Amino acid sequence: MFIKKLDCGYSRQIFDIEQKAQSFPWTLNAIEEVFKYPYYTVLGAFDGEQLCGFIIFDEIAGESNIHDLAVMPVHQNKGIGGLLLNRYIKEITGHGISRSLLEVRISNASARHLYDKLNYKQIAIRKNYYRTASLEKEDAVIMENRL
Ligand SMILES: CC(C)(COP(=O)(O)OP(=O)(O)OC[C@H]1O[C@@H](n2cnc3c(N)ncnc32)[C@H](O)[C@@H]1OP(=O)(O)O)[C@@H](O)C(=O)NCCC(=O)NCCS
Repeated sequence: MFIKKLDCGYSRQIFDIEQKAQSFPWTLNAIEEVFKYPYYTVLGAFDGEQLCGFIIFDEIAGESNIHDLAVMPVHQNKGIGGLLLNRYIKEITGHGISRSLLEVRISNASARHLYDKLNYKQIAIRKNYYRTASLEKEDAVIMENRL
């Protein structure tokens, strides 16, 4: 397994993982947009030629936000999400970034477990922030990691 920065040429593979891993996947257009802005970075985790997971983050005004993190379902629970997050923290360290922020569905147990392990702390709840497949609403947990 190795991790490298991705360019726009990987948009379709990212989209494929999004569709398989997320209940509300980003559109292909939204993924392509990310590559137009210098403050976004996309890192991908590879098993040989195969892209297994990715993380999308920004670095703006001394803060970094994680916008997306997903691992292909067949490759989940093998440490790839943790590997991507650790590499992300390494990337932003030394760039004058004082904190990393993210939001996660309150029901997303595996992602929250991973963020807890990497020292993220809950700082707020956004009530009814997400919609669910059954057209109900779900809270977002805002988490912060002070670097
Ligand atoms: C969240 C996600 C990226 C994690 O990727 P991953 O490669 O499976 O992550 P890892 O294997 O490194 O770690 C998963 C951890 O969650 C744990 N876990 C799995 N299911 C769990 C559950 N139901 N409750 C609590 N912990 C759980 C695993 O045991 C593992 O922890 P451990 O290493 O301490 O044993 C992946 O599940 C995913 O793509 N989910 C869909 C998209 C998503 O929700 N993204 C996050 C948006 S904020």
